[in-house]
Amino acid sequence: MFISFEGGEGSGKTTQIELLSDYLSSRSHNVFVTREPGGTKGAESIRNLLVTGNPERWNAKTEALLMYASRLDNYERLIKPNLKQGKIVISDRFADSTRIYQGFVGGVSEKEIEELHSFCLNNFDPDLTFILDIDVKQGLLRANSRNNNENRFESKGLKFHELVRKGYLILADKNKRMHVIDASMSIAEINNSIVQIVETYLYDNNK
Ligand code: TMP
Repeated sequence: MFISFEGGEGSGKTTQIELLSDYLSSRSHNVFVTREPGGTKGAESIRNLLVTGNPERWNAKTEALLMYASRLDNYERLIKPNLKQGKIVISDRFADSTRIYQGFVGGVSEKEIEELHSFCLNNFDPDLTFILDIDVKQGLLRANSRNNNENRFESKGLKFHELVRKGYLILADKNKRMHVIDASMSIAEINNSIVQIVETYLYDNNK
């Protein structure tokens, strides 16, 4: 089973992934967690090119290519082998991030992104996707309070991030695997909602 977490900046994905991973481990599942861009050593080097420096450093199409270079390495070296071993793999972001950030917001067409997706991943997508939906200003405030230099996307401005939020909600409307979670709830409430959906999925697929 492959689960991805998506959402705008500062939506609390990392905390929720840790909680879900702990919960699933406590229920005797083997869990493997990765993130994008990144995951492998090579993909982490690509991440550094993407998330630091001037916002205008890359255009959306170049970003999409770098994201997929990182994703393919992560998929081949980590995601695919761990799924083969029967683990539940959880990724902090996956292809939907490219569909939204470089596609819906950045202007790379849906057709071009799906061609890239098919070329690199043979149309592989998660079984379940959680979209943590948060007020943009609140999320950016949280993200900007982090003490690191990974602020290239955060610097793209309020309008950009409002569109990211809108894009995710539109995408979620079209995809059954996607679940929008109100990320303004408490950490425990968010975790409970996520656990319920994962348990239902596991139950339905083990019948
Ligand atoms: P993170 O801060 O959630 O780890 O993500 C890094 C940034 O990269 C975030 O602002 C979203 C952006 N991103 C894309 O634009 N496209 C992608 O495909 C991915 C995976 C991330």
